Amino acid sequence: MKIAIGCDHAGFDLKKDILDLLHSLSVEHIDCGTDSAESVDYPDFGEKVSRHVSSGDAERGILICGTGLGMSMVANKFPKIRAALCSDMLTAKMSRLHTDANVLVLGARIIGKEMAKEIVKTWLNTPFEGDRHQRRISKIEALEEQLKTDESQRSQ
Ligand code: RB5
Repeated sequence: MKIAIGCDHAGFDLKKDILDLLHSLSVEHIDCGTDSAESVDYPDFGEKVSRHVSSGDAERGILICGTGLGMSMVANKFPKIRAALCSDMLTAKMSRLHTDANVLVLGARIIGKEMAKEIVKTWLNTPFEGDRHQRRISKIEALEEQLKTDESQRSQ
């Protein structure tokens, strides 16, 4: 599995820990930055990771900012992205089992480093349950298509 990972300045320290974890698990990854604690804008890095996942270039993504809120908002703008902000093991597990989240979002100012690492491990190792949950995800995808059609009709 190839993972695209990115953060803003608030998530920079935690990204280093998550990168170490990905290395130790031999998970292939693309580091989309940021590369220092200097202040940056989270949409720029949320976009980089989301483009990799939305295009299929990476199977999944991990985004980190201060609260996880801004990165979630950015990622969920992109087609085919289902980004989940997870702060505990249960949300990490359910984000995979029921909603097949392909982007994990972490709030570096909200959770500790050890919790973040456990969340990542759970999120990487939990499969999607499919079945009735696939039907619901198909409805999200149909809605995404419908909104695109609505938009293009409005602009004609
Ligand atoms: C940066 O100060 C902070 O606003 C950002 O990391 C994030 O928490 C936004 O949601």
